[in-house]
Amino acid sequence: MTQNVFPVPGSLQASAHVNAETYERLYRQSIDDPETFWREQAQILDWSQPFTQVKNTHYSPEDVTIQWFADGRLNASYNCLDRHAATRGNDAAVLWEGDAPGETKRITWSALHSEVSRLANALKKLGVKKGDFVSVYLPVVHQSIAAMLACARIGAIHSVVFSGFSSEALAGRIEDCRSRVLITADEGMRGGKYVPLKKNADAALEHLPFVEHVLVVRRTGRDVPMKAGRDRWYDEALAEVPDVCEPVDVTAEDPLFILYTSGSTGKPKGMLHTTGGYLVHAAASFKAMFDYHPGDIHFCTADVGWVTAHTYLIYGPLANGATIVLFEGVPTWPDASRWWQIIEQYKVNIFYTAPTAIRSLMREGEGPVRKHDLSSLKLMGSVGEPINPEAWLWYHEVVGGGRCPIVDTYWQTETGAVLLCPLPGAMALKPGSATKPFFGVRPALLGNDGKIVEGEGVGGLCFADSWPGQARTIHGDRERFLKTYFSTYPGFYFTGDGARRDADGYYWITGRLDDVINVSGHRLGTVEVEAALASHPSVAEAAVVGFPHDIKGQGIFAFVTLKEGVAESQDLQRDLIQIVRTRIGPIATPDRIEWAAQLPKNRSGKILRRILTRIAAGDFENHGDTSTVADPTVVADIVKRIQLQQ
Ligand code: PRX
Repeated sequence: MTQNVFPVPGSLQASAHVNAETYERLYRQSIDDPETFWREQAQILDWSQPFTQVKNTHYSPEDVTIQWFADGRLNASYNCLDRHAATRGNDAAVLWEGDAPGETKRITWSALHSEVSRLANALKKLGVKKGDFVSVYLPVVHQSIAAMLACARIGAIHSVVFSGFSSEALAGRIEDCRSRVLITADEGMRGGKYVPLKKNADAALEHLPFVEHVLVVRRTGRDVPMKAGRDRWYDEALAEVPDVCEPVDVTAEDPLFILYTSGSTGKPKGMLHTTGGYLVHAAASFKAMFDYHPGDIHFCTADVGWVTAHTYLIYGPLANGATIVLFEGVPTWPDASRWWQIIEQYKVNIFYTAPTAIRSLMREGEGPVRKHDLSSLKLMGSVGEPINPEAWLWYHEVVGGGRCPIVDTYWQTETGAVLLCPLPGAMALKPGSATKPFFGVRPALLGNDGKIVEGEGVGGLCFADSWPGQARTIHGDRERFLKTYFSTYPGFYFTGDGARRDADGYYWITGRLDDVINVSGHRLGTVEVEAALASHPSVAEAAVVGFPHDIKGQGIFAFVTLKEGVAESQDLQRDLIQIVRTRIGPIATPDRIEWAAQLPKNRSGKILRRILTRIAAGDFENHGDTSTVADPTVVADIVKRIQLQQ
């Protein structure tokens, strides 16, 4: 197989923060002497009390300990705001582009600082104290950043819930952390459509009487019901408090936020991130992997509800004083040139997005890209799922004009910040590979026999030691944390992904090994979707698997068994789709629902998803080892039905 390799551009070898020589040296140091390495990296932040210990971490089967910079004190909002507002308050911190073209806002460091301080005071007035949770259910507006930083300013812990999640999904996430305060908006705007956020929030709060206060941002200004005594307009609450609020010093190990993500069992996991390690890792990796230099304009397209936005739209860039473009809308509205128009308009230098979006824009051809001057771009990134070489090459040639390196960054909600990625001045790129470990990161591939795979090979992608941005636990469920990440391969953190290492030591992610699927870069537990389907009164049981999808990476394929006497119908299919949208949100909409008289199970009654995954991929012959199937006619029936439809 011939392989494309893209060497480091000559200009970058000289100008980049890290070149090939420094990468080798610093990587070695970061592994051999992590104390010295991370002590220096941590100077990217201002500490109100310097730490004396850098690292206290181990993954022994008896005890998992993850502590970084534990006795240091700092404030994340101070680091992301005050120190920039003090020196260049009139510069832009956030360039907001609304859903509709022409709706823009330029928010300076001073203005953001003042808004964050007011909101922090307003939260204090509502009784929010250090260690309290605050839920945030907002569209991509600057107030979402203000909400996060205001929490950080007073030591409260934010829990941002993606605004595309349904009221039920929101309710579950509020109930889990029992936040007494919710910050939301009247409505959101996406692709010219209104998203009824306040209405969803009201429905979510119906059974959550412990939520005492709701602050409501006026985004569209249209009429929404306000509940007396509970709901307040955000702008009014801010107007009556001062715009000065001393940042509270917290210890490095005090929580900064939780963020929910899907796992292989039903309930979403609230990954808990702490302040010092997370912010050091976010800030240092942002600077190195995007080769950020002061003055660069950074555009990350992720929604504020995902970890990508937490780390590389908000905390990492703002800690570095970077100006960010914050875009509320979608890449295809009013037409497929929207992102390219934004890049031209704001002279974006660094652009970070997901492969699924690249694939869907590729379908529109080169025309929408060529209409715009993208010469400001210096570097582009990819995140969230493997990028197929075809999409990589299109991104590189058509969007990046063949000049801009693509950093394919591998990480997870759990890892807080990047673990595998190229440093653009240091590594040749191979389309589809997340290349090499970031500093301080010790990848290992583990075989089915539990042994470490050396050299070239494939295995479960694990990490042998902690890194500063690592989640410390699952909120309220340390047992689950230990079981999920540390029990499969004792002594290692297991990501749930498979990977291959090639002869040059480059890593290639091969996809999830557990019951998690990656749909358009969004992570979903198949069990969550199954539970939503099974909640319909006509459904006896359901099995959900991923299948290869040209645009989404993976699509959702549901096999559904109906209760005795219930007739199969298209109406019922529509109802099932609706129930998934209501219980989780549109991102979990099944692409295909097939009826199955029965589901294949082993003798102890466990559904054999492995076989269904093959069938969903169109492989009707090769089901692997079927000796465990209790009743092989079940598989034959399903295959027959699907073949009949094709
Ligand atoms: O399967 C991997 C995939 O996304 C998962 C993490 O999803 P989430 O926690 O939602 O975070 C996404 C953004 C950081 C991983 O377990 N993934 C993420 N980045 C890549 C990737 N797969 C391949 N290449 C990547 N660059």
